[in-house]
Amino acid sequence: MAIQKIKQSVYSIGAKHWDRRLFDELIPLPDGTSYNSYLVEGSDKTALIDTVDPETLDILFENLENHGVLKIDYIIVNHAEQDHSGGIPTVLSKYPESKVVTNEKCKSMLIDLLKIPDEKFMVIKDEETLSLGDKTLQFLLTPWVHWPETMVTYLQDDRILFSCDFLGSHYVSSELFVTDEAKVYNSAKRYYAEIMMPFRKMIIKHLDKLESINIDMIAPSHGQIYDNPEMILDAYKDWTSDNVKNEVVIPYISMHGSTKKMVEYLVSALIKRGIKVKPFNLTVTDIGELAIELVDAATIVIGSPTVLTGPHPAVASAAFLANMIKPKARFATVIGSYGWAGKLVERIAGMIGNLKVELLPPVMVKGFPKENDFRALDELADAILEKHKSLDI
Ligand code: FEO
Repeated sequence: MAIQKIKQSVYSIGAKHWDRRLFDELIPLPDGTSYNSYLVEGSDKTALIDTVDPETLDILFENLENHGVLKIDYIIVNHAEQDHSGGIPTVLSKYPESKVVTNEKCKSMLIDLLKIPDEKFMVIKDEETLSLGDKTLQFLLTPWVHWPETMVTYLQDDRILFSCDFLGSHYVSSELFVTDEAKVYNSAKRYYAEIMMPFRKMIIKHLDKLESINIDMIAPSHGQIYDNPEMILDAYKDWTSDNVKNEVVIPYISMHGSTKKMVEYLVSALIKRGIKVKPFNLTVTDIGELAIELVDAATIVIGSPTVLTGPHPAVASAAFLANMIKPKARFATVIGSYGWAGKLVERIAGMIGNLKVELLPPVMVKGFPKENDFRALDELADAILEKHKSLDI
């Protein structure tokens, strides 16, 4: 696979994984992904910034060979997760003189995960620099994007920020730089929602820290390079802000049509009130699409029939996911149906304890919804409208 030149003596040398469709055995990848590894050739030293997923190591080595790389002085490790670090042991065996440059926390994780010997490491601290001769790297610790050891590397001379997962996207293209901003925005938002959103507050601090450096390009380890860095930095500022939007997300399941009828009615009632709404039938939902919509929504309405006194398992799974990724929604409630009895509302409420939401009155219906149930859904739509108005959205 091709080596792509970013600037003089700076290359993208990693792997594109065009047909990967699942990450962490959980996250759908509709657009594949890439594991970007970067080569920086200074006048004295050569650095490789992050490696690739072990499954694509052949591509990295083919690129290194084709580029005639005989010596790697430093392997810079921004993140210990194996899709970037998994290639390090093999790189070390082929380039035994290399030092693994990273922070103390990442070192300890690499020893645990990959059994890299202690003597191979060069440990750096926050804001420390490393000279390659005519080029200088600076390391900025940015913990919790999305593991505790994460950092970014700044090539001072060329003003390129190598951000690893942070600001990246699962998107693969033959084009090195972002060309279709709308497409990449959506992929990056999906990536933020699935991976980064639980660490929103930390990210706000990191974005502040990045304000202090001049950045011409952001080169993440997944997806294309941003040669207009403001595009992704502004998007992150918006997603991480405390502002929610006049939007309702409705993940739901319906077994015999009662909950579906309620969802359809509520969707219409919200549209009539000028509220943007998106229902997700969980039997056919790409969870990444659901996660994207959870980034901005002010309200989450969970719809479920009662199954053995609790929610349908697919609804429980979606509630568990929402609880994990911690969207900034302000309001939540439950609608659904039951046959004879149940504790569906209490069970779902107990599953979303991480969300800082005010619980609105639920609407639970015995059997198929009737006139008074539709009135209750109208009242719920009114309550949502009033709550959103109270936020000025
Ligand atoms: Fe792309 Fe957290 O690894």
